[in-house]
Amino acid sequence: MLVQSDSLSFAEHVKDGSACLRVNSLLKTYQGRGNVIEDVSFGIMPGEAVALIGGNGSGKSTLLKCCLRLIEPDRGEIEFLNQKILDLNRAQLRVLRSRVGLVFQHHNLIPRLSVFSNVILGAIGRKGGLRTWRHCFSTREIREEAMACLEKVGLPHLAASRADMLSGGESQRVAIARALMQRPDFLIADEPVASLDPRVGREVMELFMELNEQERITFFYVSHDLDHAIQYSNRILALQHGRLIIDDRSSLFTKGELREIYH
Ligand SMILES: Nc1ncnc2c1ncn2[C@@H]1O[C@H](COP(=O)(O)OP(=O)(O)OP(=O)(O)O)[C@@H](O)[C@H]1O
Ligand SMILES: [Mg+2]
Repeated sequence: MLVQSDSLSFAEHVKDGSACLRVNSLLKTYQGRGNVIEDVSFGIMPGEAVALIGGNGSGKSTLLKCCLRLIEPDRGEIEFLNQKILDLNRAQLRVLRSRVGLVFQHHNLIPRLSVFSNVILGAIGRKGGLRTWRHCFSTREIREEAMACLEKVGLPHLAASRADMLSGGESQRVAIARALMQRPDFLIADEPVASLDPRVGREVMELFMELNEQERITFFYVSHDLDHAIQYSNRILALQHGRLIIDDRSSLFTKGELREIYH
């Protein structure tokens, strides 16, 4: 099967020392499940867009969560934005996470709040937590920034709408605007367009790529859509039963070749 390329291997990233996410020999075990992530090593360079693919249960979400220590790995090293995250205390971890925008399949907006308020919530991490939430609302600078984020995702006209009145695609755009409000260095997304129709799904992926290319936000996402994985990334990682079996440039793959990993 396809294995890590010479050009973009982990060793290469380690050698030049510039990867912004570096995972080395990661192991994650769930009780009764054995190794869900086994000896996984890779690096992501600043500005890259990297798609993570693999069958159901292959460990993709577990890997993303380990990268932010939302779950604890059993073994290995993770360096994220120049910090060894397994050595960080809770406060340090909170600061690190505030630099990483997260977007999930289900957008997790607060339904009864307006779109605008949901976007402002993205600033909480960098503004010192919920205590300053009220203060955020009263700051003109923050309000203008929230509108600018909504403009980036094409939804300034919906600022006053309640979040539970939106379509799936609109909700996902608001979730992206909320993530942008964090001023993230890195965006992580787990199946961000899985619940959207194909046209809206493409639009949202194109939005991610615009942010990646124009604002240089590094983008690491999970997808089951192989067309997306090829088109909207410069590199593809693939997991099979918790092991990394592909780490290479997207342009090298056809959809047919990638389909092999699901056998
Ligand atoms: N909290 C948990 N406790 C025990 N087992 C878990 C837990 N979370 C995940 N698993 C198991 O770990 C394996 C990997 O799960 P994970 O959610 O990472 O897969 P995935 O690749 O994201 O799958 P999908 O494509 O379905 O989202 C699965 O077998 C899953 O059942
Ligand atoms: Mg998953």
